[in-house]
Amino acid sequence: MVGSGEIIVNDIRKIFKKGKPDEVRAVDGIGFTINKGELFGLLGPNGAGKTTLIKCISTLLIPDSGSVTVGGYDIYREPLEVRRHIGVLTGGERSLYWKLTPVENLRYFAALYGVSRKVTKERITYLLELMGLVDKSNVRVEKLSSGMKQKLSLARVLIHDPPVLLVDEPTLGLDPYFARFIRDFVKNELNKKLKKTILLTTHYMDEADELCERIAFMNRGKIEALDTPDRLKQSMPQKQVLEIKCQGTIEKDMFETIDGAAGINISHGEGFVFLRWNTDNPELILGNIIELVREKAKIYSVRVTTPTLEDVFVHLTGASLKDA
Ligand SMILES: Nc1ncnc2c1ncn2[C@@H]1O[C@H](COP(=O)(O)OP(=O)(O)OP(=O)(O)O)[C@@H](O)[C@H]1O
Ligand SMILES: [Mg+2]
Repeated sequence: MVGSGEIIVNDIRKIFKKGKPDEVRAVDGIGFTINKGELFGLLGPNGAGKTTLIKCISTLLIPDSGSVTVGGYDIYREPLEVRRHIGVLTGGERSLYWKLTPVENLRYFAALYGVSRKVTKERITYLLELMGLVDKSNVRVEKLSSGMKQKLSLARVLIHDPPVLLVDEPTLGLDPYFARFIRDFVKNELNKKLKKTILLTTHYMDEADELCERIAFMNRGKIEALDTPDRLKQSMPQKQVLEIKCQGTIEKDMFETIDGAAGINISHGEGFVFLRWNTDNPELILGNIIELVREKAKIYSVRVTTPTLEDVFVHLTGASLKDA
């Protein structure tokens, strides 16, 4: 055993196309420790390096330098033990055999991990029950709905009962109902009840905020900040946010002439433009801002709120999680 954390990442680097003009420093000197039983979030925009980091931890990619241990096992010297210790769930690719039934799929993956017959039988019963798939036990996977297939993928990841789960963008592209199921399942069942140590990546700040005990902000291969969601938000120098919801064409530099309103975050969603300013005195800038926005856009609402993780990220990196 090395150290006391369940996942210990020490100064790892992974550079693609090294030395070429289009070199990518996907993971650029990252270190952190995830404690046993912790639900830890890695939050960052597209291309931040989240998946590359997960692949390094799960032994699918070999880092260029640095060290990683999972449950005390070293990814270079003990890759098989590391693999047995973890389950990797990715939102995108699903590896199930479509011509086989759920029971046959789970038996196959249990055998791959060397789970005994008796334990396999118990786990399959338990997992199919947990996922509400008992009445589909012997139906070919190709005949299941996509939600059922996703639940079966989840069961597959759990078949060898790994203490550590690496969960990469679990709700990407899911409908809101199923996204809610997955979030609740990860938090309540896997983390709270089954005491799994979980590393979750996402670029949904609400998801990270809701689920994770601690969050690392990742951007361009580096960690920009690491703390609890609350402490990250409290770290903002300005404690309030002025938000205007409007429709129209708004440019960042429109507000440069207004004192205290230069730092603006513009994001888009549901056909609206959201303008946000971090400020201590919303009332001081409000009048001037509204005048300018009115010339270019139709205003739907104006409100003062508190900083979100998105605001913290923009403050730290200048980039938006949403628009990146
Ligand atoms: N096999 C590869 N060869 C070359 N470049 C790669 C390879 N895999 C990833 N990259 C690059 O490394 C960077 C980090 O990619 P990565 O997939 O880790 O980001 P991510 O944070 O998971 O992004 P997303 O939120 O889109 O999933 C990107 O610039 C990507 O293009
Ligand atoms: Mg990714």
